[in-house]
Formats: sequence, C-alpha cells, structure tokens
Amino acid sequence: MIPAIRGTHDILPGDVERWQRVEAVSRDLFGRYGYAEVRTPIIEREELFAKGTGETTDIVQKEMYAFTDKGGERITLRPEATPSLVRAFVEHSLEQSMAVPKIYLFGPMFRYERPQKGRYRQFHQLDVEVFGVSDPAIDAEVLDLAWALVTGLGIADVELVVNSVGCQACRPAFGEALVKALGEDVGTLCGDCRRRATTNPLRIFDCKVPQDQPIIDRLPHSVDYLCESCRTHFAAVKKHLGVYGIPYRVSHRLVRGLDYYTRTTFEILAGSIGAQNAILGGGRYDGLVKHLGGPDRVGIGFAAGIERLVLAMPASAGARPRTAFFVAAMGEPARDAAIALLRDLRRAGLEAHMEYEGRSLKSQMKRADRLKTAYALILGEDELARAVVTVKDMRAGEQAQVGRDAILEYCRARAAGGQE
Ligand code: HAM
Repeated sequence: MIPAIRGTHDILPGDVERWQRVEAVSRDLFGRYGYAEVRTPIIEREELFAKGTGETTDIVQKEMYAFTDKGGERITLRPEATPSLVRAFVEHSLEQSMAVPKIYLFGPMFRYERPQKGRYRQFHQLDVEVFGVSDPAIDAEVLDLAWALVTGLGIADVELVVNSVGCQACRPAFGEALVKALGEDVGTLCGDCRRRATTNPLRIFDCKVPQDQPIIDRLPHSVDYLCESCRTHFAAVKKHLGVYGIPYRVSHRLVRGLDYYTRTTFEILAGSIGAQNAILGGGRYDGLVKHLGGPDRVGIGFAAGIERLVLAMPASAGARPRTAFFVAAMGEPARDAAIALLRDLRRAGLEAHMEYEGRSLKSQMKRADRLKTAYALILGEDELARAVVTVKDMRAGEQAQVGRDAILEYCRARAAGGQE
C-alpha cells in the first residue's frame, strides 16, 4: 500500500455530501451577490506569490511548494488564490468584460505547514474578490456575504472580528510607534518577533508565544494611528455593518499574515473546531493590483477554508432526505421487467437502484436498507401476471400494490413528498 502524503486527505462518500453542500450554498449566494466563477491553474510562477503574498510572510518564507520544472522555470503550487485572481483580472482585462469585476474560485491550495486538526498541506478554499470599488459600502457587503455564507451553512458559535491596518501613508508611522514602544523589550521577544521588528513590525501581533503576550498587550493599536481617510473609511465600514445588522468585534491584533492588506481586515472564528478556529479571513488590498503590474485598482475579498467550514457545520448538514427507490426482482422473467422499471424511474428524474447478483428477496431488501432507499418496488411472477408492482415503504414497513401503468406517477409523488 502506498499511503497518501502527510497533510493531504481523501474526501469520501459520507463526507463529500457536506462539501457539496458548501459548494451549493456558496454558488447560490455568490450568484445572488453578482459574482462569476473563475478557474485558474494550480501552478503559477513562483514570483507571483513572492511578490503578491509577500516576501516577509511565513507562506513565502517557509511554506511554499516550489520547484524548478524541466524547462528550468521556478513553479509554485498556489498557497492562496488572491495573487492568481489578481493576475487573471489583469491578464484578461476583466474590468473591460465585466460590469463589476466580482469573481470567485473554489480549489485546492498548498502550504507546507505542520499538519493538525483543521490544518493541512493540501487544503481547499473558496475565495471571492471584488476589484475597483473603494467605497466602504463594498467592505460591508463583502462582510455580509461572508456572514451569510457561514450562517447559511448552519454554523453556530461564530464571531466576526474586524480591524483596520491603515494604508501605505499611515502604516510606516505605526510601525515606528510599535518599534519605539517595544524599546529594550524587543530583545526578550521570541526569534520570530525579533525578526518581525525589523522586517514588518505589524506582524508581531500574530505571535502566539505565551511569554511574549504581556509585552504585546502593551503595544499601541493601529486604529489610533490611522490617517484621516483610513479613519473615515473604517468608521463608514462599521456604520454599514450596523445597517446590515451583523454583530462584530474590533480587535487591534487582527493584522493577518499576508503582506498586501490595507485598511479593512477581518476573520470569522468558529468556537467549535479547536485551535485552528479561523474559518474565513480576508480584507482590502488597495495596492496589490498595481504592485503586480496591473492598473491602479483597489480590491477586497476573502477566502474560507472548506475543511474548516465542513468541520464546523452541524452533523446533519448535507444529509439527504430518503427519496430513492430500490427495484427488487424475483425470478428471471421479472428481472427484465424490473430493469425496464429501473430505466423508467431514472428517466423520470428519480434516484433508483437495483441489484444484479440474483440474490434472494431478503438479501435484496437488506441492500435496499443499506442504500437508505425510501421504497422498494418488488416484481415477481405474480406481479407480472397482474401488471402491478408491490411497493414497500422501507421506514413504515407497509406494503401496497400499484398498477404498472400508474407506478411512475406514484413514485414521483412519493419522492416529492419526501423532499418536503
Ligand atoms: P488566509 O487567512 O491565509 O487568507 O486563508 C484563508 C482561510 O483558509 C483561513 O481562514 C483558513 O480557514 C483556511 N486555511 C489557511 N491555511 C490552511 C491550512 N493549512 N489548512 C486548512 N485551512 C487553511 C488567504 O488565503 C487570503 N487569500 C484571503 C483573501 C482573499 N484576502 C483577500 N482576498
């Protein structure tokens, strides 16, 4: 046996229904909010992420699956979707072909992280991005979409956390204020934080090392260092969140681990899934499109980890009502009639099963039960002679006989009833 690679996983029947539910609920919502689907390659040039996600991020420094291909090109398995979607937006001039460039993507992402519950090396994201809208109303709309998605999946015990990390104009002064406030203490922080103090002081707020926390707790907050326009923007985002009626908490520690964020950042945390509790994260990235060689367009979006959504969803989510039919045949002549009935049921749009191994009626009924079918349709010599089908309600155990010419209508009505 050659096992799957550590940090990757198969999604099997029994679980896949929950994945399908995430996709169905998301697609429905994304359509209603005006987003169109985009599918981009899983491999990209390494520099797209080095430049896009950012050289000082853990993702680029430690976690990328990067290699040289046979043509000598540096290739990366995408660790996140945002730089790819920005690339596609620029490369195909989507602002020309779309009234409002709002796009979404589902797909696998790759990060060489230490695997644990809710953290994998191949994981899946659903990602949405909007380009070219700077009005803070769009920030709130994107947050409303994120909230609608999470609550629409029935995930309870969730918290929306927001912050503003400022812009190119006000962030440097905040970085300096952080370094100044740290003073001599910087030497007592963990190695990562000492490095962050010189490369990207804001990222110190990401630190989870317990000994560092008392020092970090005393540091100034980004919202107190925002320039006038960032301050006005953040106030408007919060006002609009009030209009949407979405509960949120402002956390000055929410700086996010990617380099491109400006102004609004956010995460949705789920209480029920353990340490890796961020089910969704995102924010505004007003300089990224230009930085990656495109026109000067703002952007905002988020990504949710599908594994984490599935973990946080209630157990019943994705379970289908019992509406399927099982066709059972007793004896060879009845078998052909049963196959014809199976064909008719499927052509009528119903889910139907049959077993071909010619077992006893009892073993066929066992199979019907394991398949969780709602009704068994039994055909034997007697039924053939009288042109009827014996219908067994698998839950109630009751039996009835229905004419062969009325059976499709009968089954359709039963299936529709089961879906209510
Ligand atoms: P991110 O916070 O790196 O943001 O990832 C978004 C979500 O992906 C996380 O909240 C988490 O649910 C999931 N995730 C991340 N890493 C893993 C992992 N190793 N295993 C399982 N799930 C994981 C981004 O990726 C940004 N591109 C989001 C964004 C879009 N910002 C603006 N637009």
